[in-house]
Amino acid sequence: MCGIFGYIGNQNNAAESTLEGLKLLEYRGYDSWGIAVKDGKNIIVEKHVGKIGQAKTSLPKSSLGIGHTRWATHGGVTVENSHPHLDCRKEIAVIHNGIIENFKDLKNELLAKNHIFLSETDTEILPHLIEEYLKTEEFSSAVRDAFNRLKGLNAVVVAYSPSEEIIAAKTGSPLVVGLGVNEFYVASDVSGIINHTRRILFVEDNQMVILGKKLKLISLSSGDEIQPVFNDIDWKFEQSDKGDFKHFFMKEVSEQPKVVKNIALNYKAESEKLADLIDKAFGTFMLGCGTASYAALAGTYLFSRIAKKHINFSIGSEFMYLEDYLTQKSLIIPISQSGETIDVVEPVAKALKKGAKIAAIINVLGSTLYRQADYKFLLGAGPEKAVVGTKSFIAMIAMLILTAYTLAKKQSKGKDLLIKSAENIENILKVDFIEKIKIIADDLKNKEHIYIIGRGLSYATAVEATLKIKETSCIHAEGFAGGELKHGVIALIEKGTPCIVFAPNDETYDDIISNAEEINARGGFIIGIGPKNNDVFDRFLQTDDIGEATMIPQVVISQILAYQLALKRGIEDPDKPRNLAKSVTVK
Ligand code: F6R
Repeated sequence: MCGIFGYIGNQNNAAESTLEGLKLLEYRGYDSWGIAVKDGKNIIVEKHVGKIGQAKTSLPKSSLGIGHTRWATHGGVTVENSHPHLDCRKEIAVIHNGIIENFKDLKNELLAKNHIFLSETDTEILPHLIEEYLKTEEFSSAVRDAFNRLKGLNAVVVAYSPSEEIIAAKTGSPLVVGLGVNEFYVASDVSGIINHTRRILFVEDNQMVILGKKLKLISLSSGDEIQPVFNDIDWKFEQSDKGDFKHFFMKEVSEQPKVVKNIALNYKAESEKLADLIDKAFGTFMLGCGTASYAALAGTYLFSRIAKKHINFSIGSEFMYLEDYLTQKSLIIPISQSGETIDVVEPVAKALKKGAKIAAIINVLGSTLYRQADYKFLLGAGPEKAVVGTKSFIAMIAMLILTAYTLAKKQSKGKDLLIKSAENIENILKVDFIEKIKIIADDLKNKEHIYIIGRGLSYATAVEATLKIKETSCIHAEGFAGGELKHGVIALIEKGTPCIVFAPNDETYDDIISNAEEINARGGFIIGIGPKNNDVFDRFLQTDDIGEATMIPQVVISQILAYQLALKRGIEDPDKPRNLAKSVTVK
């Protein structure tokens, strides 16, 4: 959430550098963007609503700039609410990622001192608060004292027109500093600065860094100087472009056979290590948010069924309410594409304090979870640019299937199922199959609600398919366990109500078909997805019959259906659904 970028150094293209950095960080938020540069003794600001796209900047040449891409939390998407925010004298510019939980109290305090606010944001209190402290203190201690008054998990970068320094501080959201030759970069993550330098300082929580002629790292609580530890990063950050695809969404969907085969063929050692950790742990918890939480949910079914092992499941943001009984023998498996999701990072930090071991399944090298974890399992799915998670989810499921089979001492069976699922995806990606999905998209495109059911592992499939349809096409969809139908949701079924039924050829088949009959009896329009057709289905999309891995083609079909629905409904950019961001670093 929100991308932060700053430059200070001996080049005079700070505005251009900042703009390019923001383009790389735009996946973190794309409601609006803005840049401030120092021009002589003045701060000059440019702000825009909407995506950066191919924007150019008209700001003057400068050797000091800070910029921000916003994902709105406090205040609507307007130019006034976009960052950077300034103090009354327009000398202090602040960019911010996070939520200042006590901003109302601070704002009232500042209003009483006649400060004038131009935005509805929580961020804007900070430049004014620094302005107050600057009355009696120098720049760095004013920033430190002001920042220490903020409650919540925050990362900020501050520029001050009379100063030749920029200052960054953080208590929660990610912040990295890149050391160039006579220059420094600061950004929300390494991908924003890796084009400039690979010498990186990861700013830790409760630290503040002063960047000018040299770098000074300071403890926010004590004010003491800390010896910075730079890392020479040799990670390869794959670049990704759309190639012949109109959107990253379908490009990434079409990469899934490769992603699954990679895990099937090259993850022997990783799956053995993870299986061993699960085997030895006393209490294993899988957690994630959104799509990744559905991978974790699928994990509970997969490990129970394949490896006869109980895994606890929790949504990341709920996990802290379950942490009381964690011990040093507990194993936490956070699952995350970005490795930055605060609702996973925060409970993992708490679990670490309790001595639990962390085995993270993540896609982004060097991310916060990557650095937190005792054991790191990288998914190797490559950069995922579309905000909607597709190939990362399939990679998570592939990793879990392989590990569960490894734990059950049947690794080669797991590998075979994955290879078969990759072949099935290849078929689904062919023109004639996509045409069949398009027919169903035509059936559904004007509907207000879609219901999706599955049982067992297919319950996880159902909720994941539901999320894809909701966020990509903006149609309300509701996914639930087939058995729950008669406990309430059936009240919503009427003539023509669309209902997708995931019916793999497993122990759930007969019961889910009974649920489909119940919908049929109320006039529902039923789309079956699975290996076996049935008279109750009005439409049917066939997958191969590949055991637990049937889930993989079922999800892929729902991804393509969601995309086709988006196109048919005229959604402007399926890669960037409204109100979302790729990396969710606020609570
Ligand atoms: C939906 C989607 C999100 C993410 C969630 C967690 O398509 O991608 O629901 O799954 O925000 O993100 P990560 O996996 O980065 O922790």
